[in-house]
Amino acid sequence: MTADTASPADPTFPVPARLLAGKPTPHVTSFDQYKAMWEQSVKDPQTFFGNLARETLTWAKPFETVLNGSFTEGDIGWFLEGELNACYNCVDRHAFTQPDKVAIIHEGDELNNVRKITYRELLQEVSRLANVLTSLDVRKGDNIAIYMPMVPEAIFAMLACARVGAVHSVVFAGFSSDSLRDRIQDCGARVVLTADEGRRGGKNIATKRIVDEALKQAPSVEHVLVLRRTGSEIPWKAGRDLWWHEEIDKARPYSPPTNVNAEDPLFLLYTSGSTGTPKGVMHTTGGYLLGAAATLKYIFDYHPDDVHACMADIGWITGHTYLLYGPLLNGATTVVFESTPTYPNPSRFWELIQTHKVTQFYTAPTAIRALRRLGDQWLDGYDFSSLRVIGSVGEPINPEAWHWYNDKVGRNQCAVIDTYWQTETGSIVVSPLPGAVATKPGSATFPFFGIKPEILDPQTGQVLEGNDVTGVLAISQPWPSMARTVYNNHNRYLDTYLNPYKGFYFTGDGATRDKDGYIWIRGRVDDVINVSGHRLSTAEIESALILHPAVAEAAVVGGQDDLTGQCIHAYCTLKPNAEEDAGLEKELSLQVRKVIGPFATPKRVYVVGDLPKTRSGKIMRRILRKIVNNEQDQLGDTSTLAEPGVVPMLIEKVHGK
Ligand code: PRX
Repeated sequence: MTADTASPADPTFPVPARLLAGKPTPHVTSFDQYKAMWEQSVKDPQTFFGNLARETLTWAKPFETVLNGSFTEGDIGWFLEGELNACYNCVDRHAFTQPDKVAIIHEGDELNNVRKITYRELLQEVSRLANVLTSLDVRKGDNIAIYMPMVPEAIFAMLACARVGAVHSVVFAGFSSDSLRDRIQDCGARVVLTADEGRRGGKNIATKRIVDEALKQAPSVEHVLVLRRTGSEIPWKAGRDLWWHEEIDKARPYSPPTNVNAEDPLFLLYTSGSTGTPKGVMHTTGGYLLGAAATLKYIFDYHPDDVHACMADIGWITGHTYLLYGPLLNGATTVVFESTPTYPNPSRFWELIQTHKVTQFYTAPTAIRALRRLGDQWLDGYDFSSLRVIGSVGEPINPEAWHWYNDKVGRNQCAVIDTYWQTETGSIVVSPLPGAVATKPGSATFPFFGIKPEILDPQTGQVLEGNDVTGVLAISQPWPSMARTVYNNHNRYLDTYLNPYKGFYFTGDGATRDKDGYIWIRGRVDDVINVSGHRLSTAEIESALILHPAVAEAAVVGGQDDLTGQCIHAYCTLKPNAEEDAGLEKELSLQVRKVIGPFATPKRVYVVGDLPKTRSGKIMRRILRKIVNNEQDQLGDTSTLAEPGVVPMLIEKVHGK
């Protein structure tokens, strides 16, 4: 590992002098210090993480064994025998020591619609809700579904579940009723927490109606607790549906936390894989909390007066780890943003940073690219002097976007952190540390403590030693916040992550370690598409299309897109008696929206006569991918195609004559 040799092709940006000179001093101030800590963390994880877990978290019962299990067995557990409560760690201990500190700043959809909640109030609110859950007979280990807009009550909901030892399963409120139904069915939730409607970008979203639709086929659900957000008329099912405010009014504002074992589940979060239905990734309590707390402290360089603004939705892992758990575990002030980057105009983020004196700002490359495109005038006159760390997550950040972010938002005085991680890793695994690592635009740089990344030859699985190597990215030893299983399907967990390369955790991403030891993430090597940082499975989109009565076969591939990173292109063939009318392609696109959600809308749907298949009938997606990306001159070997004549027909369909 080296970081001091810059190559002219990839200019290196040193740690900004302002960070090292200013107050507060970063937690880690040199590459050598980082390297020494990293080496200790991977050589002796037992001591490193044992100490860190005792320092960082409050344990009701101390652990004795730091780590047990292996990748080969798939039986990993951290901090065994230890007992704790996640909500106590996020709320109570700060409410006792700094009751008047603001825990949550809610920036509502409309400008100047701000609500601040102190740690004292947070403890009361969460306690009340925990008591409501108990009154609904929610017990330790029960799964609870949360389908809510970005309001403080969504945070209360997650924390209240944790308080009573229940397992939250947050479903992003942009998912369709079908997707919500599938997730509720899979985890068998008995209670759903939701709102009458959401508000986003000045528009109302029919949240409760979507829940009602989903629940038509989810008989496990006994109660729906409904927050009044907009006050609009909504359908109501007496007996099942309860108003949040009415139940809260009856509840006592303190509830004792239920301690759980470190390895008891904290939450499920469904994510897309390369095949089949979404999987319920399960995170446990002790290890996940430690990963969230430690990465927030070191990677965002958190200090006590900081205001942390993570723009992700709580429906995704980024919202779980860097909006809720990481900041609150550290006793920070965290921002909950309900609106969009362009409402009421493209200054919204900048207004937010200035108003709340944000110190850490975290968003996705797609938002950075979109705002860059709208012009620099939207940033004019804003005061960004509070900022120290600006981060990006979810997809590779292209150098143009990185430079714009660094120049215009960071004013070349902030650490720009390109953070690489996944739902399954629980917390960031590769990222610069603000005070220690010189950056290269487009590279996530170096591993976090405890992470031992390896680049493997995809075919042989051999470790590619040294620098200047490209292959698939794997991690060779367990770390505390890694997912422990897929809900009700441990074999799927093993087959997806631990069996592809025995003895390693397989990320599903391609990567390069350059000649200076920097890691560059190259994107997914499986059938997962990343659209605006949203992870989608081609198989899921194909299944949605096939549900349409006219469709015989569907093949979905990712195209390149300047704004969204990747975009969805879908090819469909029709059943023999189906009619191809002018509106069909639009209709098929709507079909995907309906089955998965608006964020999965294909950029283009092509109704075609046939698909390129091998003689054994396998669809050659490589050819379809090359065509949408305008690389039809590089189709490679097409001699195995059963019907070579389909290729010109497809090119004509996509690009015209
Ligand atoms: O392909 C990688 C990409 O996002 C995938 C994980 O998606 P998800 O589980 O939804 O979590 C997203 C937020 C943590 C990864 O397999 N990805 C994530 N961060 C980066 C990235 N690709 C490149 N650079 C990143 N910084």
